[in-house]
Amino acid sequence: MACRSSDELKKLVEEARKETVHGRVADYIPALGKADPGDLSIAIQYPGGECVSAGDVEEKITLQSVSKVISLAYVLMERGPGYVFDRVGMEPTGDPFNSIAKLETMAPAKPLNPMINAGALVVTHMVEGSSPDERFEKLLGFVRRLADDETIGYCREVAESELRTADLNRALCYFLKQHDVIQEDVEDLLDLYTRQCAIEMNCLNLARIGLVFALDGKDPRTGGEIMPRDIARICKTFMVTCGMYNASGEFAIKIGIPAKSGVSGGIMGAVPGRFGIGIFGPALDERGNSIAGIRLLELLSKNYSLSMF
Ligand code: DON
Repeated sequence: MACRSSDELKKLVEEARKETVHGRVADYIPALGKADPGDLSIAIQYPGGECVSAGDVEEKITLQSVSKVISLAYVLMERGPGYVFDRVGMEPTGDPFNSIAKLETMAPAKPLNPMINAGALVVTHMVEGSSPDERFEKLLGFVRRLADDETIGYCREVAESELRTADLNRALCYFLKQHDVIQEDVEDLLDLYTRQCAIEMNCLNLARIGLVFALDGKDPRTGGEIMPRDIARICKTFMVTCGMYNASGEFAIKIGIPAKSGVSGGIMGAVPGRFGIGIFGPALDERGNSIAGIRLLELLSKNYSLSMF
C-alpha cells in the first residue's frame, strides 16, 4: 500500500509540522538562516507519472548534502568503483557530518565514506574537467537528467555565502591535500563543491530523483538507463548506512527507507522499486537532519509499512 491521497498526506504533514518548534534552521551558512523554520512540504513521485504532494512543493531549496549522493553516482560512472573506493571508504562514522576527528587517526588519511564532508570533498575532487566551471556543468547536466528538468540551476547567493564561511571544509581540504588524497587548488575545489551544494530545485524534482534511485537508475518516463543498476545500488546502500549521518542507525530502525538529508532541510527518499520522496523542512535536529521531515517519514513508514527491512 502507498499514500495516494493528498488529503491523507496533508494530515500527516500537519501532524509532523508540530516538531518544527523543537528544531533550528542552519545558520553556519548565513544565507540558509533566512528559511522559515515552520515550513514543511513533501512530494511523492510514482513510476507511472502520478504525484501526490502537500505543502508548498514548488518552493526552491538548495541540495546541500543531498548533492553528495548525486556526485557519488556521477564519479562512480565517470571513474568506476575501483578508482573511487581506493580514495574514499564505505564505512559509517558515528561522527557529525563535518568532523575531522577520524581523518587524523586513519592511515592513509582516507575519508571513511562519501556522505561526510571529508569524503564528499574527495568525491567532488574526482569530477574530471579542466576548470571548476566545466566540472560544474557536467554535474549540473547529470542533475538535470535525473530530475528531467533542464531549468535546474544553482543559487549563487547560497554558494557564495558558504564559500566565504567554509573554513571547516577548507581545513578538511588542506588536511587531505597535505596527505595527497587531493591534489588540486583548495579554493577551486571549494568553489566547485559549494556550487554543487547550492544546486537548487523543488520537492517535485527531488522526488523524481529519488524515484530514479528507487528504479535502479532507470528513467521513469522513458525507461532508459540514467545510471547503471549497480551504481544505483551502491548509492542506496550508502543512503541507508550513512545518509542521515550519525542518526542513520536509528533512522534505519524507525523508518527503513534509503534517504539522504541536507542542512537546508531537504530529504530525498527512494523506496526501492516503488516511489521517490522529496521533503523540505528547514528546522533541523541537533544532528543536522530535518526534524519534521524525519517525523513525517516515520508517520508514512508506519502507516504504509514502507520499511525495506
Ligand atoms: O559542506 C557543508 O557543510 C554543506 N554544504 C552541506 C552539509 C550538509 O548538508 C549536512 N547535512 N545534513
